Amino acid sequence: RQQEKEQIVKGHEFAAKLYSHILKNSAEGKPALDYLRSRGFTDSLIEAFQIGFAPQRRDVLAQFLVQRQFPMSLMEKGALVTARSEGDYVDKFRNRIMFPIRDARGAVIAFAGRTLGTEQPKYLNSPETALFRKSRLLYNYHAARAEIKRTNQVVVFEGYADVIKAWSAGVHNGVATMGTALTEEHALLIRRSTESVVICYDGDDAGQAAAFKSLGLLEKAGLDIKVAVLPNRLDPDEYVESFGADRFRKEIIEGAVPPEKFKLLHLRRNFNLQDNEAKLRYVRTAIREVIADIEAPTGREHYLKELASEFSAITSFESMKQETNETRGERQQKMRSNGDNNDFSWNTVR
Ligand code: UTP
Ligand code: MN
Ligand code: MN
Ligand code: MN
Ligand code: MN
Repeated sequence: RQQEKEQIVKGHEFAAKLYSHILKNSAEGKPALDYLRSRGFTDSLIEAFQIGFAPQRRDVLAQFLVQRQFPMSLMEKGALVTARSEGDYVDKFRNRIMFPIRDARGAVIAFAGRTLGTEQPKYLNSPETALFRKSRLLYNYHAARAEIKRTNQVVVFEGYADVIKAWSAGVHNGVATMGTALTEEHALLIRRSTESVVICYDGDDAGQAAAFKSLGLLEKAGLDIKVAVLPNRLDPDEYVESFGADRFRKEIIEGAVPPEKFKLLHLRRNFNLQDNEAKLRYVRTAIREVIADIEAPTGREHYLKELASEFSAITSFESMKQETNETRGERQQKMRSNGDNNDFSWNTVR
């Protein structure tokens, strides 16, 4: 079994080298190389992340592996090739830009292949194998590990391009959940190597909703969390391209906000704050769904003051504070009547 796994890894390492060679040195790879360069992937980034290209021909990798006497049924198990018929193997990835995916030791165990155009799916990922479990793997964790330790912080992105562009911008503690939602396993993995996380998901609705969901899991794992807020629905990779490395580091990563602030901004998206009635509904919802949950009195006051100064025309700090306290009082009462005991919260048990 162990030997089989090593063979599968070896097949992936060879494949990564082959794809990288094809991207950099062949006529077939030229359009892909041009595409990557047009998106701001420099040659040194392409080298560092071992980005490659799988050509259109049906069995480039299969032939390469056969020539080197790799056991092909094992290569099929490792999801590098597919058997068309007895002994006839074709490549799994064709006409795609290839991103090797490494495990925590740094061994290549899977690939993501991106189209050059608009075909679907945009990224084709290796299927789950004995070696590749998406729910417990964070892209780039191996390379980011040292910087995660040094800064005691990890930055979590959605995708490959974000991690790579952030790296080029000097953010070397970035990993990606590869599009899927962050799992409890991811949270525990993160918790084992650091105490604090910056969630840096895409600025579009899907990304912000995913960030909101991830918050809960990371909070449960006892992590200190900040959320990066991207303007104009940009994703981190696009932000770096549009505004540069310095602004990305200073405004987006260092400017990441506390969860409560993010929740308020997230909530705001549901309200059209044109008229007083909507403003009042927003303020009330903000109090009930965000501010009343903040345990520290100074924290509650901070956000109430912020709201009070923005909405001074329709409400006051004092009346909002009163509403906050009423909400908290109602909740405590409910909790008591449900027989819940606050002393046994998750935090105390931990
Ligand atoms: P995005 O759609 O945000 O793509 O998906 P992206 O990372 O910005 O990609 P570029 O910049 O267009 O190249 C975020 C992540 O979700 C996963 C990938 O990990 C991707 O990086 N994903 C997305 C897939 O696995 N398959 C898909 O078809 C799309
Ligand atoms: Mn991206
Ligand atoms: Mn996205
Ligand atoms: Mn994106
Ligand atoms: Mn992108």
